Amino acid sequence: MENETHFDYDSVKFAEFYGISKDAVENMFDLFFDWREKYAMENSPNTYEENFLIILSFIATSGNYLEIGLDQGVSHRQMVDVRNRLNMGNRIICGIDINPPFFHQPDMVGCKLVWNADSKDAMDHFSEEDNFESIFIDGDHEFEGCAFDICTSWHLVKDGGFISFHDTGKKHGAPGVKKAIDFYKLKNKFEYIEADYKHGVMIIKVDKSKMSNEKAVEILEKLADDD
Ligand SMILES: C[S@@+](CC[C@H](N)C(=O)[O-])C[C@H]1O[C@@H](n2cnc3c(N)ncnc32)[C@H](O)[C@@H]1O
Repeated sequence: MENETHFDYDSVKFAEFYGISKDAVENMFDLFFDWREKYAMENSPNTYEENFLIILSFIATSGNYLEIGLDQGVSHRQMVDVRNRLNMGNRIICGIDINPPFFHQPDMVGCKLVWNADSKDAMDHFSEEDNFESIFIDGDHEFEGCAFDICTSWHLVKDGGFISFHDTGKKHGAPGVKKAIDFYKLKNKFEYIEADYKHGVMIIKVDKSKMSNEKAVEILEKLADDD
């Protein structure tokens, strides 16, 4: 494949949001082109979503990273691959899936942890001490499941870190995910960036002065009471 550049406006926006230099993103794009050849899959994300994943890789390599919902491991493998190439082996990259089909594939060597479990159970195994820079929520797309993942992720991501979502697009996103994002008023309270292409991606910057860990739980408990 030609090493054409896809460094477009959205990539610049994503990069600025994360505070990453344009040069660094361009380097990462070079890495990514050969990654895409390696892992090209029928249902691979479209270009804009690929750009999002590239930027997310920076976060994965700059701190500890957790992904909820791995499926074929499109995004997760990229995180592991990029981390290994950048010799950031000390960063924890881990994931949770209720049924991860790629679990035993050899290219997942170097993945610190894959929890073969429901996120509702697996999240208990992590603590604030894991100091996650970023959590990517792409598991249960129903409202309650996604709301739960937001609430528990809030505890685990450090202040100033990021929570990212897939399937937030207006047309082709998942209604449950969008409802959960609205439920926590993430778009009203926090800095965020989104790209509404196909399935849609969104990233919010965690600011615990605006929503404490306790508040996240309180909101979730209210939800449970309302049922
Ligand atoms: C859309 S796929 C994830 C795609 C993946 N992030 C990628 O980039 O290829 C959603 C995954 O979430 C998993 N999942 C659904 N509900 C879950 C739950 N409660 N806990 C953990 N994983 C869950 C499913 O098994 C499925 O593999």
